[in-house]
Order: sequence, then C-alpha cells, then structure tokens
Amino acid sequence: MSTPRGQFSSRIGFVMAATGSAVGLGNIWGFPTQTASNGGAAFVLVYLVLAFLLAYPALMAELVIGRHSRSNVVSALGDISKNNGVRKIGVGVGFCGVIVASLILSFYTIVAGWMLAYLTESATTIVGFSSASEWLTTQGETRNLIFGGIFAVLTMSIIGGGVEGGIEKWSSRLMPILIALLLALIVYVMTQKGATEGLKQYLLPDLGQISDPKLIISALGQAFFSLSLGVGTMLVYGSYLSKDESLPRLGAIVTVVDIGIAFTAGLLIIPAIYVAQHNGVQIYSEQGNLIAGPDLIFQVLPSLFSSMGAIGPAVSLAFFALMSIAAVTSSISMLEVPVSLAVEKTQASRTKATAIIGTIILAISTIIIFNFEALFGLVIKVTTEFSQPLLGIALCLFAGWVLRRDYLLAELKNGHPNIENTLFWKIWPAYVRIFCPALILLTFYHSVVA
Ligand code: TRP
Repeated sequence: MSTPRGQFSSRIGFVMAATGSAVGLGNIWGFPTQTASNGGAAFVLVYLVLAFLLAYPALMAELVIGRHSRSNVVSALGDISKNNGVRKIGVGVGFCGVIVASLILSFYTIVAGWMLAYLTESATTIVGFSSASEWLTTQGETRNLIFGGIFAVLTMSIIGGGVEGGIEKWSSRLMPILIALLLALIVYVMTQKGATEGLKQYLLPDLGQISDPKLIISALGQAFFSLSLGVGTMLVYGSYLSKDESLPRLGAIVTVVDIGIAFTAGLLIIPAIYVAQHNGVQIYSEQGNLIAGPDLIFQVLPSLFSSMGAIGPAVSLAFFALMSIAAVTSSISMLEVPVSLAVEKTQASRTKATAIIGTIILAISTIIIFNFEALFGLVIKVTTEFSQPLLGIALCLFAGWVLRRDYLLAELKNGHPNIENTLFWKIWPAYVRIFCPALILLTFYHSVVA
C-alpha cells in the first residue's frame, strides 16, 4: 500500500512553491544579462511576447495534465491514452523529462554552490578572515565540490520533508525574504552614481536587433527556463494542487510574478554594472562586449562591492543571500521530478528516494566539476536550448491531442465552473494543439537549425 500523495495546503502555498520554482538564477542572473547583451529593451519586448504567447500556454498544458493525472510525469503521460503506442511515447517523453530535470539540477547545483561560497566569503570578510575569503573566491575543484555538496544536501533536506512540510513550507518562508532583499538592494543601488546610465541601457530598446534569430532563440530558451517548463516540474507541482483552484488563473499568476521578478532583477543588475563602471571597474571584455557570464557575478559585482567601502561586505552578503535563496527554491522543484517518480513507482520511502537520487545527481555534478571545460557548457546547451523546447512541444501535443477534450474541459472546470464561457477556453485548446507546438518548432528551427 503506498502512502497518500502530498498536496499543497492552500492556494498561496502553491503560488509560493510554483513561483519559487520559476524565480531562480534564470531570473536574477540570466534575464538581466541576456537583456544587456541582446539589445536592451528589444530583448525585453521579444521576451514578453514569447512568454505570454508560448510559455504561458505550455505552462497550462503541464498544470492541466498534472492535476488531471495526479501523478509523477512518467505515469501522467503514460496513462493519458489507452492506445499502447501512444502510451509508450508518453512514458518515453516522461523519462526524458526526468533525465533532463536531473541534468539541469546537476549544473544548477554547481552554480548555486558558487553563490554559497561567495555568501560565506561575505561573512568571512565581515569578521576579518582574509585567508578564508581568498580561498572561497578562487575557482577550484575542492571548493566547488564542497559548496555544491552543501547545496545538494540543503535541497535534499527540503525535498525529504515532503510537499507540504518541505516544498510549501520553505518556499513560503524564503520567497518573501527574496523579494525584500531584491527591493532593498535596488533602492541602495539606485542611490549610487552611474545607476541612471544603467537604467537607460536597460529600458531604451535598440530595435535593430529585434528580428535577430539569436535574440529570438535566446528569449525563447530564457522563457522556458525561467518558467521551469518542459521537464515535468510544473506538471508535478500541478499534480499536488487542489481541485478547487482555477488553473488558468494560477498559471497566469505564476507567469506574471515570474516575469515581474525577472524584470525587477534587471533594475538591480544593469544599474549595478554601470555603478561598477563609475567606480572604475572594467565592465567590457577585450572584445568590447558587456561582461555578462560568470565574470559579471563573480568579478564585476564583487569589485563593485569592495569599492563601496565599509558597507560593501553587507551589500555583498545581501546579494549572495538573494542568489542562494533564488537557487534553492528552484532546485527543490527539479529534484521533485525524479523523486516523485521513484516514490510512486517503487516501495521506497521519500527520505530514502531523496537520498539516493540526490546522491546520483551530485555524482553527475562531480563529473562535470572535474571535466568542466568539456561538459559544463555542453550540458547547459543540450538541456536548455534543445531538450526543453522539444519536450515542451511534446507536452503541448499530449495536452492538446492525447488528453480527450471532454476530460480537458472537466479538469479545467474544477475550480473554474464557467470556464466554457471564457476567452481562455475559446482559444487555448486549439492553440495548444496546433499553434503553440508549431510556433515553438518554428522558432527552434529558425534559430538553431537554420
Ligand atoms: N526556473 C528556474 C530559474 O529561473 C530554474 C528551474 C527550476 C528550471 N525548475 C526547472 C529550469 C525546471 C528548467 C526546468 O532559475
């Protein structure tokens, strides 16, 4: 006899968990830096369009399938159809989702470990341990292993606590802190010289770049990554949602909050870059591009913090706390994808399943750490640029073609009895069947293959 499935205790609990999953390093680091290196507000514009046109409908596909099936991603996709062939495809897509979610977590853990190392460094600087600070901020396999390991244990201990006692409890505690830290940092950075130049760069579009295929694929990838789509994360969170809630409404809230926080993070990061420049920090690479990758977070911003005088280490502490919190509420949602499968398919307890799967993923992170040059960028590219959009298409097709229309309607009526009369029901079912997969494919083809 299996234990009863977990469920979020309230609407706000789900919103905290799902926005916690969505809001992560992708929002606070990825979005602002992609914006900065892709024509400023032109990127923001394309991103907004793609997020509402493609990512929101795909998010709805996951939430509907998840709540309808009330199970992990493999069983959910496998059980929609009675047809044996379709069933096998569903199981295959589900497994791909589980693998991609685990691979994303394996590189995410490494990056989150860097955040924890810099968080610790801010603390050691405040108390004056300068040799520790030196080690903490120097790239090294041992440091990466230790802090990746600490982050993995944190993620596992939350997931081990279950849906309500782990995911919901910690997301509800951490998300308000995240927003408070973000706003406090923005207010502080805005008072610094150079910030307005950054604001201009961020908000005035360079429309010449708008049809650049690279910009479009970056925006699509960013939207799918930011909303945690394609790998079953949102499907699994949807499966823990009460039948009294309106899915289109909750999906819209999650989308808007995710976009809102990404946009707000831009108000912190881009002005901070220009404040750094004002303080004499190098913000362009030798090729003349704005530094946007790891060097931005781990060189430009730390130099900015040390140029701020006595308050610098405190600002640094707040910034890396923000990054670490953003990372942990996201990583738990990735780990939940394989763990929910293991718990529901085997006799294992949640604690045991979490420990075993968490260790396997940490082992993958370790392999990446020791073969960093060869693997790190490759894993990111294969999972986020290729797998996520393609799996997103598969999930739309399952919601649109495999899930029968009467089931779809019945599921959406739960928590939204008059759904038939809404614009959502008039547009979305056809949209998710044809337009959404076609548009994702087109964007993908246009930018990756062509
Ligand atoms: N959305 C998160 C971010 O912006 C990352 C994330 C969480 C994710 N779960 C995911 C990405 C599942 C892809 C798939 O950082």
